[in-house]
Amino acid sequence: MDISRSDFPEGFLFGAATAAYQIEGHRFGGAGRCHWDSFAQGPGNVVRAEDGATACDHYHRYEEDLDLMAQAGFDAYRFSTSWARVIPNGTGPVNQEGLDFYDRLVDATLERGLRPFQTLYHWELPSALADRGGWANRDTALAFADFAEVISARIGDRVASTATINEPWCVAWLSHFLGHHAPGLRDIRAAARAMHHILLAHGLAVERLRGMGRQELGIVLNFERAMPASDAPADAAAADIQDQIYNRWFLEAVAHGRYPEGALAGLAPHMPDGWQDDMVAISQPLDWIGVNYYTRSLMCAAPDQPWPSVAAVEGPLDKTQMGWEIHPEGLHHFLHKVNDALPGRPVYVTENGMAWDDRPAAGAVEDAERIAFMQAHLAQARRAIDEGVDLRGFFYWSLLDNYEWAFGYEKRFGLVHVDFESLARTPKASYHALAAALAR
Ligand code: NOJ
Repeated sequence: MDISRSDFPEGFLFGAATAAYQIEGHRFGGAGRCHWDSFAQGPGNVVRAEDGATACDHYHRYEEDLDLMAQAGFDAYRFSTSWARVIPNGTGPVNQEGLDFYDRLVDATLERGLRPFQTLYHWELPSALADRGGWANRDTALAFADFAEVISARIGDRVASTATINEPWCVAWLSHFLGHHAPGLRDIRAAARAMHHILLAHGLAVERLRGMGRQELGIVLNFERAMPASDAPADAAAADIQDQIYNRWFLEAVAHGRYPEGALAGLAPHMPDGWQDDMVAISQPLDWIGVNYYTRSLMCAAPDQPWPSVAAVEGPLDKTQMGWEIHPEGLHHFLHKVNDALPGRPVYVTENGMAWDDRPAAGAVEDAERIAFMQAHLAQARRAIDEGVDLRGFFYWSLLDNYEWAFGYEKRFGLVHVDFESLARTPKASYHALAAALAR
C-alpha cells in the first residue's frame, strides 16, 4: 500500500472490527437463544441455514485472535458484547460465565496494548424478547438500558469507548421492512416502531451509562449513498426518499432530535403513540459518531411497490463478492455529512471493508483486490481529515472471515482467512500489507 500511518495525524487509531454472534460461537459459555438462531432455521432465510453456533470459535481462541491484531500493529479492537450471552433471557438472571468471558477479553485486549472499543448491540436479540415483539415493542428498549448497565458495571471501567447500537437501519428497516435479517418481517408497522425504538434504546442506554460516569459514548450508523439510476425526476425522488430512510433518519434523530420529513410522512401512521416525547432522550449529546461505509446504490422509482416505492438497479462499477459496487468517494461524502450534522464532533470509521472469494494456496492468501480497496478508502478518509473532519480512527471490517448473516459463511471479509472445518487462521496478503503500512 502506498499509504501509511505517517499520512494520518498523531494518535489516529487503526484497528479491526468484529461482532459477537459472527465470531464467538454462540453455543459456548451459556449464551441464551437469540433471534438469529431461530431465523437461521427458517426455510430460505440464510444460505445453507447456517448459524453462529460455532462461528470462528473466538470464544476459545480469542487470545490467538488478539495476538494477530497486536502483531499487525493495530491500536484498537472493536468488538461487541452479546446481550444473549450476558442476560440469556434478555431480562432477569445474568450469566456469570458470559460476564467472565468479556472480562477476560477486555483484559487480554489491554495486555496487548490494544484499546477496547465496545459495541453493546450487534444484533443478537435474546429470543425471549423477540417472542414478545422484539424491537417493535417499546419494552425491549427499556430492557436494553438494563443490559447496558449490567455489562458496563463489569467492563466499563476498562473500555476506551462504548457504542450503543450497531447499524440501526439494519436492525429496523432491513429486518422489519425488507425482511432480510432477523426477525425477517415485511411489515411497515413493525418497521416504523423498530425505527423509533432502536433509537430510544440508544438514548436510554446513553442516559444510563452517563449516570454511571461512563465516557466516550457513541453510536455506529451505516451509510450507503443513494443515487438516482437515471435523469428522470421520479428516480431522483426515489433516491431522495431512500436517502432519508437509510442515511438521514438516524443521524438527524441523534444530532437534532427530529426525523426527516418525507420519511416521517410515510411512517407517521405506524409510529408508536407519543414518540415525540422520546426525542430529547434520543438526541442527547454524544462523544463521537461511528460511520460504517461499504457501497452506494442506484435507485429508481417502483410505483407498483408499496411506499416508499423504490428499487435498486445494478450499477456499472467494479463489485465485491457481495455484488456491492466499490465507490470510495462515498466514504468522503458521508464523513462530511456527519461533520455537517455535528460540526467538530469526533468521528470514527467503525467499519469499512470488502468480501472476496479468497482461497489459500500454499499457506498464503493473495487478495490484491482488498489491498486496493483499503488503500482507496483510506485515501478518502485522509482527504476528509485534510478538509477538517475530526476523524480519529479507522477500523477494517473484519479481522476474520466470519458469519455474514443471511449469507452464512460464504462471503469472506477477513484480513485473516478462516477455514471453517479446522478453524485454522491464515493471515491474508492484505493483513501483511496493513501491518507494513502501520509499522512505526
Ligand atoms: C455491517 C455489519 O455491522 C456487519 O455485521 C457485517 O458483517 C458487515 N456490515 C458486512 O456486511
